[in-house]
Amino acid sequence: MPAMVFSAPGKTIFFGEHAVVYGFPAIAVPLIEISVKISIQALPDEDGIHIVNRNLGEDFFLDISDKSCHYQMIIMTILNILKINHLPSTKITISSTIPVASGLGSSAAFAVAMTKAISSFLGFKLPFEKINEIAFEIEKFQHGTPSGIDNSVVTFQKPVFFQKDTPIEFLSVGKSLHVILADSGIRSFTKKIVEELKIERDKHPEQINMEFKEIKKITTEAKEMIESGNLKEVGLLMTENHRHLQNLGLSCQELDHLVDVAVKAGAYGAKLCGSGKGGNVVALINEDKIKSIHSALIKEGAASCLYSKVRAA
Ligand code: MEV
Repeated sequence: MPAMVFSAPGKTIFFGEHAVVYGFPAIAVPLIEISVKISIQALPDEDGIHIVNRNLGEDFFLDISDKSCHYQMIIMTILNILKINHLPSTKITISSTIPVASGLGSSAAFAVAMTKAISSFLGFKLPFEKINEIAFEIEKFQHGTPSGIDNSVVTFQKPVFFQKDTPIEFLSVGKSLHVILADSGIRSFTKKIVEELKIERDKHPEQINMEFKEIKKITTEAKEMIESGNLKEVGLLMTENHRHLQNLGLSCQELDHLVDVAVKAGAYGAKLCGSGKGGNVVALINEDKIKSIHSALIKEGAASCLYSKVRAA
């Protein structure tokens, strides 16, 4: 049987990260220029699950008794939800262009691509809702208490206005969004950062909730501005959202600097995206400024930059 190939894109959060974990709304868009690809193939002459991860240089057979192996846990989660007790011998080959621990959704993309690969290999044709449900379960043990926004935007591959425990709303983008993602070069670990903020919130609930409420106002206004194509206003709101993330202690010098550089170079606005304390800055730009803003960010210390476009509906 030939290999079947599945993929899932990256994502960036435009508004509302962290607040979204506590039930406030957030806006995220898929980044189709980067993706996780998984090929899956039957191994009729071998016994076991052969994992090849090209990015990590891994090449091994799964030890099914090893509960500390995250591949094993991911596969078991998928099989349990599908009520299947055995995965026939297979080779699973993983490659990714999504940088890890940088706020661009690599773990959600991995969860979604694995779910698609294994379920299809087993003959299931899962609807997006089911893929999303399984990917969310996988995200739980990768991230502890995920809001569900990452797996949702990656599964549906559409801009989303997301709020926990409410049906996902897809955004109708009024004018195409051109963005540059600038990598601070500092890795950012979502689980740890979300846990640290929870400790802070337990200590100072009023202060933290006040920031979340401000972020909610920004996010709600931004939704209308994205839909009506008022990019200038969307940009200003992004920079405002960044100030609140700073107040929450989620930024760092390097991210603040990249935000300032992007705005000075003519971006409509910029902010850290994802869990913060490292990772990427997302800048909303006019198409004719791609080159100049890209050069300014690289000159001023970005480890790398990625351009992406979210098309108008
Ligand atoms: C991570 O991409 C976004 C966070 O809000 C966590 C989550 O929503 O699960 C920081």
